[in-house]
Amino acid sequence: FTYLLNLNGSHHGLGSKKVPRDFRLLEELEEGQKGVGDGTVSWGLEDDEDMTLTRWTRMIIGPPRTTYENRKYSLKIECGPKYPEAPPFVRFVTKINMNGVNSSNGLVDPRATSVLAKWQNSYSIKVVLQEPRRLMMSKENMKLPQPPEGQC
Ligand SMILES: *[C@@H]1O[C@H](CO)[C@@H](O)[C@H](O)[C@H]1NC(C)=O
Repeated sequence: FTYLLNLNGSHHGLGSKKVPRDFRLLEELEEGQKGVGDGTVSWGLEDDEDMTLTRWTRMIIGPPRTTYENRKYSLKIECGPKYPEAPPFVRFVTKINMNGVNSSNGLVDPRATSVLAKWQNSYSIKVVLQEPRRLMMSKENMKLPQPPEGQC
């Protein structure tokens, strides 16, 4: 399993309370591939060869009774070298009109979601991935007019 090579190369101080990044992300990779619950929540590496475990991807479906309903949204999650001490970056690839999402580059404003704003190293990609749908269902966002479907 090639990712293990990467683990051997990382050094994490003994007695440090930091969570070893690669070890954590390997667990998250395995969990994401299995899928959670009914299998509709899954995530994975953008590129299977990404040994740095940095770029992740995931598709979500807009929630019912919102202007995002049944639309597919592609998301990218970037776990930097400081993850999980530092939160990942979350970006909408699919065009979306929503408070808390930068309309020019799709970045989710960390201040717009409590998980990113009050990040803890026990949080995970799975937890982060619940936030976009939560934003879509918020009162201020659920009825916003949306650009034509499928634009990136
Ligand atoms: C959106 O991102 C661009 C590019 O990083 C930045 O210049 C701009 O200020 C951001 N807009 C908002 C509303 O944060």
